[in-house]
Amino acid sequence: MTRWGRVVMIVAAITVGGGVAVRGLSEEAPRHQLPAPADGRSKVVGLCDGETSVTVTGLAPGERMAPDKARAVASELMGKYDAKLQVAHGGTEHTQRETRVWEAELKRVVDEGYKLFHSPEIGTNGISCDMCHPDASITHPETYPKFQSQLKKVALLRDMINWCIENPLEGPKLADDDPKMRAMEAYILSTRKGVPLDPGKH
Ligand code: HEC
Repeated sequence: MTRWGRVVMIVAAITVGGGVAVRGLSEEAPRHQLPAPADGRSKVVGLCDGETSVTVTGLAPGERMAPDKARAVASELMGKYDAKLQVAHGGTEHTQRETRVWEAELKRVVDEGYKLFHSPEIGTNGISCDMCHPDASITHPETYPKFQSQLKKVALLRDMINWCIENPLEGPKLADDDPKMRAMEAYILSTRKGVPLDPGKH
């Protein structure tokens, strides 16, 4: 995408999302922007939300924290997180705007997966997934991970997607982080919403 294309997309995303950042399918993952540590004996640990962080002092460069210290840092991070949720939403509920943007983003990825699942373009011989799996039937994503004898190992859903791309479709397998693989997974899983997970089931 051109620089201007990206600017237009970001502006559009902010307009639609009201500040909830949205990225294109194939753009690089963002990084947690952490504050700089105070000195060489401190470090900043970021939380999984991509916003919260805690400064840890008294460490040699690269030193692993002792279990007690690590547990205290994890507790401090969770304390900050809980406090922020109270301020932002008065609890754990999300705002309507956030929910709308997230739903629209998910739909976009699922729709992309639907198209790939129904397209011979992912292979080379004209066959597409839906010819044997109408509406993603008998794909059983809720049974993964499980041992698959044709793969001779415990397979993830993406391993079976690739197996079927390489075999009946005679296509090139996709990398795990390929936007096409992510979209196919999203589509297949979306067809089983509400079905209990049952890893290992045959
Ligand atoms: C020619 C028919 C055919 C095509 C085309 C096909 N599959 Fe399959 N697929 C099967 C069959 C049959 C099985 C069951 C194999 C077995 O018994 O392990 C299967 C198994 C699977 C499974 C595992 C199901 C389970 O119960 O664990 C997934 C996931 C899957 N296919 C996805 C796909 C995807 C994604 C595509 C397109 C890239 C695709 N398949 C194309 C016939 C097909």
